[in-house]
Amino acid sequence: MSANRPAAVVVLAAGEGTRMKSRTPKVLHEICGRSLVGHVVSAARELDPHHLVVVVGHAGDQVRGHLTEGYPGIRTAFQAEQNGTGHAVRMGLEELGQTVEGTVVVVCGDTPLLAGDTLAALTAAHTADGNAVTVLTAEVPDSTGYGRIVRDAATGAVTAIVEHKDATDAQRAIREINSGVFAFDGQLLADALGKVRTDNSQGEEYLTDVLGILREAGHRVGASVAADHREILGINNRVQLAEARRLLNERLLERAMLAGVTVMDPSSVLVDVNVTFEPDAVIHPGTQLLGATHLAEGAEVGPNTRLKDTTVGPDARIDNSVADTAEVGAGARVGPYAYLRPGTRLGTKAKAGTYVEMKNATVGEGSKVPHLSYVGDATIGDYTNIGAASVFVNYDGEAKHHTTIGSHCRTGSDNMFVAPVTVGDGAYTAAGSVITKDVPAGSLAVARGQQRNIEGWVARKRPGSAAAQAAATAAEQATDEN
Ligand code: UD1
Ligand code: CA
Repeated sequence: MSANRPAAVVVLAAGEGTRMKSRTPKVLHEICGRSLVGHVVSAARELDPHHLVVVVGHAGDQVRGHLTEGYPGIRTAFQAEQNGTGHAVRMGLEELGQTVEGTVVVVCGDTPLLAGDTLAALTAAHTADGNAVTVLTAEVPDSTGYGRIVRDAATGAVTAIVEHKDATDAQRAIREINSGVFAFDGQLLADALGKVRTDNSQGEEYLTDVLGILREAGHRVGASVAADHREILGINNRVQLAEARRLLNERLLERAMLAGVTVMDPSSVLVDVNVTFEPDAVIHPGTQLLGATHLAEGAEVGPNTRLKDTTVGPDARIDNSVADTAEVGAGARVGPYAYLRPGTRLGTKAKAGTYVEMKNATVGEGSKVPHLSYVGDATIGDYTNIGAASVFVNYDGEAKHHTTIGSHCRTGSDNMFVAPVTVGDGAYTAAGSVITKDVPAGSLAVARGQQRNIEGWVARKRPGSAAAQAAATAAEQATDEN
C-alpha cells in the first residue's frame, strides 16, 4: 500500500444535514460507537496519507472539537459558507498551503460504510492507470438524488458527472452514480478547481465538474465500480442512519462469528466497532456490547444485557444485566438482574447475583454477593459470602466512605455496613445487624435489638379478632396435646 500512499485525503464535512432534523450536526451522529465522520477518518487513515484534512463549516467548532479530541493529528479547514463540494475541496487544499504533489483522495464525511480497502483499491487503480482523476462509482437500485456517470456510447469512457437536478430525463435513467469518492492528481485538481463555474441549478461549485474539465483538457479520466453499492451509502436522514447501522453491525458480527464467536440471534445484538472477542464467546439475544468491551474465551453474555467498556473474563457468565466500566473475572457469575457500575472488579469465580448493584467495589476470588444487595465503595476479600439484602452504607450525605470485608467471612442477611468500617478475616455477623464498629477477625458481631415477646397481647388488645380466635385455638390444641 505504501507505494500508493496518497499525498493527502480531504474529507468533506461542512454541510448542515438539514434532513436529519437534529440539533446535532449530521457528521457527529453515531453508528456502532463512532461518529459518521469518525468512520470516514478511520478508513482514510488506513491509507496512511501524508496529510489528512477535514473541511468543516456548519457547527464547525463542534465538529472540529470532536475531531481534535478523538483523532489527534488531524487538520481541519474551515468553509464559512457551503458553496459546493468543489469550493469545499479548494478550502481543504488551501489549508495544506502549497500545491499538493501526488495523489489527493476526496471523500464525503457522511459515508460511514466506506472501507479502507476500497479506498486503497481506488488509489492503486488510479496510480496504475496513470489517471488524472479516478472516480468510485456504483450501480444502485434507485439513483434519485445522486450525480449520474455519463459514459461515451462507443468507448464506454466516462465523459462527465451530471447532478440529478441538472440532468436530462435520459441521464436520469442512468443507474451508475457518483459515490463522491475520488482520487486526483493533486496539481491537476488544483488547476481544474480554479476553472469550475457556478452556472448550475444550485449555483454551487461542483467538484464533479472537475472531471469534465480534465477530460476536455485531454487528461485520462477513469472510473472504478464498487463491488457492493451499499458501501457508499450516504447518510442524509435517520432512515439511512438506521440502515447504515444495521449493515455495519452485520459486518462486525459476521467478522466475530468467523473468528469463532457464537451469536444466537444476530438481528437482536448490537455491537460497537471497538468491541473485541475471543473464540467460543457466546452472545445471547437482546445484547448490546458497547465501547471497548471485551469477551474472553468461553465468556457467555445475555440475553438482554448491556455491557459498556467492560471486560468479561474466560468462561464468565452474565445474564440479564447491565455493566459499565467493570471487570468480570474468569468463571465469575453476574445476574440475572445485576447492575455493575464503574470501578466494579469481580475476581475469579466471584458472584454478583440477582438484584445486586455494585460500584467502585473489588470482590475477591470465590466471594459471593448472591441476592438483593448494594455494594458501593468496598473491598471484599476471598471466599466471603455476603448475606441477602445487605447494603454498604457508603454515603453520609456529604462524602463517600469505604468498607473493607476480609476473606472467608460470613455476613448475615439484611446487614448495613455503615462506612467507614472494617470486618476482619473469618468474622461472622448476625442477620439484621447494623455494623457501625469494626469487627475483629474471627468474631461474631451482633448489632440489633433483643427480641421481647409480650404474651397474651392479642387477646387483651384485639379481643374478638380473627387473630385472637386463631391464638385461642392454638392455646386449646397445646393444652389437649399435654
Ligand atoms: C454529492 C455529489 C453527487 C454524488 C453524491 C454522493 C457534487 C456536486 N455532487 O451530491 O454527484 O452522487 O454527493 O453522495 O459533488 N459539503 C461541504 N461543503 C459544501 C457542500 C458539501 O463540505 O459546500 C460536503 C457535505 O457535508 C457532504 C458532502 O460534501 O459530506 C456531499 O455534499 P452533499 O450536499 O450531500 O452532496 P450531494 O447533493 O449528496
Ligand atoms: Ca449527500
